[in-house]
Amino acid sequence: MRHRPTDMDHYVVIGNPVDHSQSPYIHTAFAAQTGQAMAYGRRHCELDRFAESLQAFADEGGRGCNVTMPFKFDAFRLAVEVSERGRVAGACNLLRRSAGGWFGDNTDGAGLLRDIERNAGVRLEGRRVLVVGAGGAACGVLGPLLAARPAELVLTNRTLPKALELLRTHRAAVAAQADPTIRLRAAPLEDCGEAYDVVINASSSSVHGAGIPVPARVLRPGALALDMMYGPSARAFLAWADAHGAIGRDGLGMLVEQAAEAFEVFRGVQPETRPVLAALRLRMEQASS
Ligand code: ATR
Repeated sequence: MRHRPTDMDHYVVIGNPVDHSQSPYIHTAFAAQTGQAMAYGRRHCELDRFAESLQAFADEGGRGCNVTMPFKFDAFRLAVEVSERGRVAGACNLLRRSAGGWFGDNTDGAGLLRDIERNAGVRLEGRRVLVVGAGGAACGVLGPLLAARPAELVLTNRTLPKALELLRTHRAAVAAQADPTIRLRAAPLEDCGEAYDVVINASSSSVHGAGIPVPARVLRPGALALDMMYGPSARAFLAWADAHGAIGRDGLGMLVEQAAEAFEVFRGVQPETRPVLAALRLRMEQASS
């Protein structure tokens, strides 16, 4: 195996696109804060070349990677061992090199939960939760959301069969580890209920320039309305939440929290997230002004 010229353990974020990724900034900040000797970079990967790119990274001595869309399902398939939460998601957002190959995990849901419960101060237990979208972003977070024992979780999606399929794969997890009394159902966008305590946008409608995919009646006054996007992509959702008496929150906190959880999987130490989130928010505001 060819090692890089430095003694540092080497990590990357792999994606397509990957230029916009804030992971190098976040993990480098965590490494400085915790005194870990590691280098963290970006790796662009052609859409049909994930396995080859991962192998090349392993050959270079790479220790681990964060995986962004669209490769989270490929990462799951290529891992020789997958954590329980990765298995429930059916997707991995990180791979850590071990003697036998890649260990896969998914920290998206844990990151979302920490951002909602610790950073935003909203406990999910007993609450009514609406998740919008049934793609790669949603599949990583459903298991941890259910483990937080909401009274009800409704999954709504433009393509209803995708929501039904995602629920089918999660029902066993609910039976095994979450509260079986949770009301769990899929619903069409135009008839997905009303007055939720927490609305989580896991759809990519804003990226495609489309409007908010659900009616405003899904928000109860003072509801937490969280978009898993951040930066300009989250602006329309935050304005919508504000206009309808909800508390809007973008996905930057989730991004930093899922990274912290990943950092712990990589390095065995838990970094402090608050200063990194504050610095990242400032950095992004300055970049967009
Ligand atoms: P990812 O895997 O990154 O989450 P995706 O697979 O494109 O991205 O899925 C994004 C989600 O946003 C899906 O639930 C998608 O709905 P469909 O399953 O019907 O495709 C949803 N989505 C994307 N554009 C949308 C739009 N204009 N209106 C409503 N939902 C949309």
